Amino acid sequence: MALQHLLSTRDLSVKDINSLLDDASSVLTPDGLHPMQSHELRGKRLVLAFFEASTRTRLSFETAADRLGGTSIFFQGSGSSVEKGETMRETIFTIQSMGFDAIILRHAQNGIHCEIASYSTMSVINAGEGSAQHPTQALLDASTIREYSGEVSGKRVAIVGDLRHSRVARSTTDVLKRLGANVAYCAPDALAPNDEMFSTMQRFSSMDELLPWADVVYLLRIQRERLSDEIILDPDDYRRRYSFTMERAREYPNVAVMHPGPVNVGVEIDEPVLDLPQCLIHRQVTHGVAVRMAVLRKLLST
Ligand code: NCD
Repeated sequence: MALQHLLSTRDLSVKDINSLLDDASSVLTPDGLHPMQSHELRGKRLVLAFFEASTRTRLSFETAADRLGGTSIFFQGSGSSVEKGETMRETIFTIQSMGFDAIILRHAQNGIHCEIASYSTMSVINAGEGSAQHPTQALLDASTIREYSGEVSGKRVAIVGDLRHSRVARSTTDVLKRLGANVAYCAPDALAPNDEMFSTMQRFSSMDELLPWADVVYLLRIQRERLSDEIILDPDDYRRRYSFTMERAREYPNVAVMHPGPVNVGVEIDEPVLDLPQCLIHRQVTHGVAVRMAVLRKLLST
């Protein structure tokens, strides 16, 4: 079925996910991306409207659009007329009136992507929505695990850190579980998720407890910008219980390490771990370009 928007991982069936991952894998090489330039998106105009900070998501969507021959224009929410009191709806109609085919949107408000999709004629692609969804991150995570381990099904993945405020935890868990992975989590009480989807999942109490079980440890940053003031975490205790330290990496060289980025070194991970062969964090970034190309192709190429 043709897809107009990508708002949530739940817009995609397992068949859709697998076909996007197959498409993504065709542009990947063992150490990068095929040097290619296609014209599949010639004449397509994309606006990246980002109301929150980004490095990887922004650059990889721009790179994906460029490699497919589309045009992308970046619109930064801060400093825009929204700060002069313009409504989101008016901002969207303003963007739409300039003839864009798709809006790639990052915004802190849960639900705003769906709302915009209900009145905009542009394709809405979710590039991060509050604590709710980040569908292309989930696809790139699945793509990275599939490449590293041969398949996602049966793999034991432990998500560790601030799941409560993480859109990545929600969308990546959904995709990995539907592809047959065994997903568990580990978080201090103050950062543990309290929504339904996690209630039946296995929960570990520390990194040391989960490491003998896991094939993949998926680390999350503490989302300080979303933390309420009453949550106080002791950094030494956090490191002791939840951090992927160099000592743990040496003890478990077969456990793969992933992270959506940005990484806070010294908090959830030790800096030298980033250079180890078991660390897939930089490979995830490359997969980010490949899966975003696959998504843009699926939604926009005619
Ligand atoms: C994440 C995000 O913005 O949701 N990063 C990303 O897109 N690669 C995770 C985060 O901010 O911690």
